[in-house]
Amino acid sequence: MKGVVFTEFLEMVEDRFSAEMVDNIIQASNLPSGGAYTAVGTYPHDEMVTMVAALSARSGLAVQDLLLAFGEHLFGRFAHGYPSFFVEQTNAFDFLAGIERVIHAEVHKLYPDAQLPRFTVEEHTHQRLVLLYDSERHFEDLAEGLMRGCMLYFGEHAVIERSVVQDNGVQRERFLLTRVN
Ligand code: HEM
Repeated sequence: MKGVVFTEFLEMVEDRFSAEMVDNIIQASNLPSGGAYTAVGTYPHDEMVTMVAALSARSGLAVQDLLLAFGEHLFGRFAHGYPSFFVEQTNAFDFLAGIERVIHAEVHKLYPDAQLPRFTVEEHTHQRLVLLYDSERHFEDLAEGLMRGCMLYFGEHAVIERSVVQDNGVQRERFLLTRVN
C-alpha cells in the first residue's frame, strides 16, 4: 500500500488523539517498516490493519468505525492533494462512478505499483448508484468511508447500503447508494 495512505492515517491519529498515541501504536504494532513511512514508498497493507487494531485497542473505538472515519478523512486529503482529479467533476455519483475508469486509472499512472481495488458500476442514475467492490485487501469499510467523504465534499446526501456477494469462493461487496434530497 502506498505510503501516502500511511502518512495520512498517522496524521489523522495525531490530530484526533495525540502524538503519544502515534508512538504508542507504532511501538505496539512491531512493524517491519518501523513506522517510518514516506508518501511515495510502498509498504505491506497488513501494517495498516495492525495499526488500526492497535488504535482500536487503545481508544476503545471499533475497527470498523475507525476505518470509516479514516476513509472520510482520506477523501478530503485526496481532494486537497490531487486537485486535477476534480476539474469538471460536478456531482458525487458521477465522480464515484468514475473511480475505476478515471480516478484510479490516473493513480495507476502516477504510482504503477499501487494496489488498487476494482470497482464495477452496476447501475448509475441520478437517484441510485450501485458499485461492486472487489479487492484481496478487503478494505470495504475504508471504501465506505471514502464514499461518505465524497458525498460530504460535493455537499450531497445519500444512504449507503452494503451487501456481501459470494461468487465461486470470491467475496465482493455491493454498495447501493440512494440519493436523499
Ligand atoms: C481523488 C480521489 C482518489 C485518489 C487520489 C485515490 C487514490 C488511491 C491510492 C493512492 C490508493 C492506495 C493504493 C495502494 O496503496 O497501493 C487508493 C486505494 C484505495 N482506494 Fe482510492 N483514491 C481516490 C478515490 C477513491 C474513492 C472515492 C474510493 C471509494 C469509493 C476509493 C477506494 C479505494 C480503496 C478502498 C482503496 C484501498 C485498497 C483496496 O481496497 O484494495 N478511492 N486510492
